[in-house]
Amino acid sequence: MELIKRGAEAKIYRAKWMGKEVVIKRRVRKGYRIKELDEEIRRRRTKEEAFLMAETRRAGVSVPIIYYIDTVKMEIVMEYIGGKRIKDFIDDENEETQKKICRMIGESVAKMHSHGIIHGDLTTSNMILADKLYFIDFGLGMKSFENEARGVDMHLLMEAFNAAHRNEKLFKWVFEAYGENFDEADEVKRKIDEIIKRGRYMRRVS
Ligand SMILES: Nc1ncnc2c1ncn2[C@@H]1O[C@H](COP(=O)(O)OP(=O)(O)O)[C@@H](O)[C@H]1O
Ligand SMILES: [Mg+2]
Repeated sequence: MELIKRGAEAKIYRAKWMGKEVVIKRRVRKGYRIKELDEEIRRRRTKEEAFLMAETRRAGVSVPIIYYIDTVKMEIVMEYIGGKRIKDFIDDENEETQKKICRMIGESVAKMHSHGIIHGDLTTSNMILADKLYFIDFGLGMKSFENEARGVDMHLLMEAFNAAHRNEKLFKWVFEAYGENFDEADEVKRKIDEIIKRGRYMRRVS
């Protein structure tokens, strides 16, 4: 097993499992929580993440196949997606390709949102382009049909684009495709604007 990332919540390993290339996401113990509660939280989040991945697939968006869930070791064994993270290459692409990718992102998020799936961490590090566009890392996700939750999700994506890519066109294309594929996009846009305003106000008073 090869450790590929040590996050605050989980360790990510690459491994071979039953002859397959897999990623193992293991939720790590938080020493500041009492043991029983800590296990309960990690078990719940492991299940929730797997559940959201399954729901997302049902919504027609690609996610790694889940091979195994271990609620004792608190791990998800999933398909290894051999591709490139959007974050690592989109800036180097020509405009036509960038637009195509951004439109795929917008369309995929529209599908999630119309099926009540809030990803919770929509950054370009959590999207991998292989044969298709895959979404990973549903550890902060939840089920909701509220436009507020959708707005928070999209606002985070906007911030992620602005911070990592510094090309305003990218998110514009994402949102364009989102709007074409989701009836409630106008309402979500209003929520995003509200969140931006709130953010400015918070910065001003602090
Ligand atoms: N199924 C997968 N296939 C390929 N790479 C993966 C997969 N899952 C995670 N990774 C890689 O590991 C990194 C961290 O995994 P992620 O689930 O996003 O955890 P974290 O919560 O630490 O961000 C990702 O950015 C990606 O590079
Ligand atoms: Mg991640």
